[in-house]
Amino acid sequence: MELQNDLLLRVARGASVPRPPVWMMRQAGRILPEYRALRAEAGSFVNLVRSPEMAAEATLQPVAALGVDAAIIFSDILVIPEAMGLPYELIEKQGPRFPKTIERSKDVEALLSGDAAAERLEYVYEALRLARRRLNGRVPLIGFCGAPWTIFCYMIEGQGSKTFSKARAALYRAPALAHRLLDRITETSIAYLERQVEAGAQIVQIFDSWAGALGPEQYRAFALPYIERIVQALDPLVPVIAFSKGAWFALSELAKTGAGVLGLDWTITPAFARAQVGDRIALQGNLDPCALYAPPEQVVRATESMLRAFGPRHIANLGHGVYPDTPLDGVRAFIQTVKGWRYQ
Ligand code: CP3
Repeated sequence: MELQNDLLLRVARGASVPRPPVWMMRQAGRILPEYRALRAEAGSFVNLVRSPEMAAEATLQPVAALGVDAAIIFSDILVIPEAMGLPYELIEKQGPRFPKTIERSKDVEALLSGDAAAERLEYVYEALRLARRRLNGRVPLIGFCGAPWTIFCYMIEGQGSKTFSKARAALYRAPALAHRLLDRITETSIAYLERQVEAGAQIVQIFDSWAGALGPEQYRAFALPYIERIVQALDPLVPVIAFSKGAWFALSELAKTGAGVLGLDWTITPAFARAQVGDRIALQGNLDPCALYAPPEQVVRATESMLRAFGPRHIANLGHGVYPDTPLDGVRAFIQTVKGWRYQ
């Protein structure tokens, strides 16, 4: 099936387009009433993630309801620690919890990794196959994984954190163990994304949500090389979007990993980012998700000023995931403004 709307893939490969494509991180799940109905039917988030049928439905909801230019597979970055041997649960109003965490070397060695772990995620691949079939070429399908450092954070901390101080301390206290664990996560993520591509993902994003917890030196040692390995393995297959939230200091190095697209959070100006990365790479972002809470006419102005500041080689998105209580009028104003934009 030929793609009817391939704006995203064209920008990611460096081609020129009449207007930027638009999608939103966390568009599947957080904001739509249709999603909440589906989740109630599933009984729990984990059930929903494990049901290919329902996950495919959640993937398509924002395409139908909001008219975004891409679908992102409904799943979670936490399926990787689970497949490696650390199951998670989602506690209402608190977030993810891992009953077991990594404390010492024998815990790392007890994990599964690579193909042995990736083959346990058949439900994700089946959801991708179903979603791809049902999209029927309307828009491209995005696959994803968490970056090794972000996954490491959850495996060490066992939950979210404001500081990730346990995970950061591990980098100083036990650097060899940290590298061994990051290596095993990386190997698993590569096998996982390769299978996602085989199942229908046409572009993939690496979410390094907690990159900003690290200083430049630690980022260079413990985050960047592992992202680079994933990019190098995947880029021959599909374009890769690397989103390292908060790692403004590493943009020029991220640009050298071979990623076709870099995601930006809202603390970076498009001009700063462009100066760091050169002309060839595409940039994705970066409207503050809170800008969508303003009255719609203000959202239109904020979106236009973002589009102007980026110019071409841009994928319109937010600077992080859309928040659960965002007014849908603001979301629609954002998407419609991008869709009405034309480059001169
Ligand atoms: O982009 C999409 O809409 C696709 C689906 C998706 C989910 N999680 C669904 C989800 C994606 C891409 C993710 C990625 C993810 N998960 C990240 C990286 C992106 C980011 O926002 O920084 C992280 C850090 C997680 C870990 C995670 N999963 C947390 C912290 C939580 C709880 C808080 C929340 O609502 O995000 C989850 C649960 C989760 N993952 C939900 C959804 C729709 C909410 C579950 C529910 O209550 O129904």
